[in-house]
Amino acid sequence: MLTVALPKGELLKNSIRLLQSVGLDFSGFLDSGNRQLQILDASGQAKGLLVRAQDVPVYVEYGQAQLGMVGYDVLKEKRPQVAQMVDLQYGYCRMSVAVKADSTYKSPLDLPAHGRVASKYVNCAREYFQSLDLPVEIVPLYGSVELGPITGMSEAIVDIVSTGKTLRENGLVEIATLYESTARLIVHPLSYRLNMGNLQTLVEKLRAEV
Ligand code: PRP
Repeated sequence: MLTVALPKGELLKNSIRLLQSVGLDFSGFLDSGNRQLQILDASGQAKGLLVRAQDVPVYVEYGQAQLGMVGYDVLKEKRPQVAQMVDLQYGYCRMSVAVKADSTYKSPLDLPAHGRVASKYVNCAREYFQSLDLPVEIVPLYGSVELGPITGMSEAIVDIVSTGKTLRENGLVEIATLYESTARLIVHPLSYRLNMGNLQTLVEKLRAEV
């Protein structure tokens, strides 16, 4: 039986809708009272795992799930050994550098050498500033990174921007975009090659729905 790793949060609704379009129903994960982390689809053809978005590639890499839906931002940060099969188009966001709106930094190159940049995406941030040849200290945070510049802990942040509301409401502005991100369909490479549970056909059906 195939197992699908589904991401909690922003991508969950669209991922469930997409799977429904190919006959796999995991809508039980959307019930507010549901606390089950593993459910069978209504037809009993596949199993769904409900995991943190960052953990989707982990389950797929280790083969406990043969496929999953996850943001490109997570793949870029974690570089898991999985195969990216389809750009699913939903879940658009961008990875940006942001600073306080009243600061004098108009571009990342204006940031002071050895200044601080707070981020949940430390690898993406480090790689970006290395590409600019600007030595900065990356301060790892787990969330609410906007507080970095607000409190004065960091000059800037590298973070996901979707609607832009969080930046606006916290008095920050974007000064550069590292890359854009959408949800991707990923598979366990060996399971795909062996066509486990007819995985190749399922991927083609999902591709056709996008
Ligand atoms: C993400 C991101 C921003 C916000 C951007 O945070 O880190 O804070 O969403 O969305 P917006 O542009 O639509 O306002 P998330 O909701 O994942 O919370 P977290 O900071 O606690 O991780």
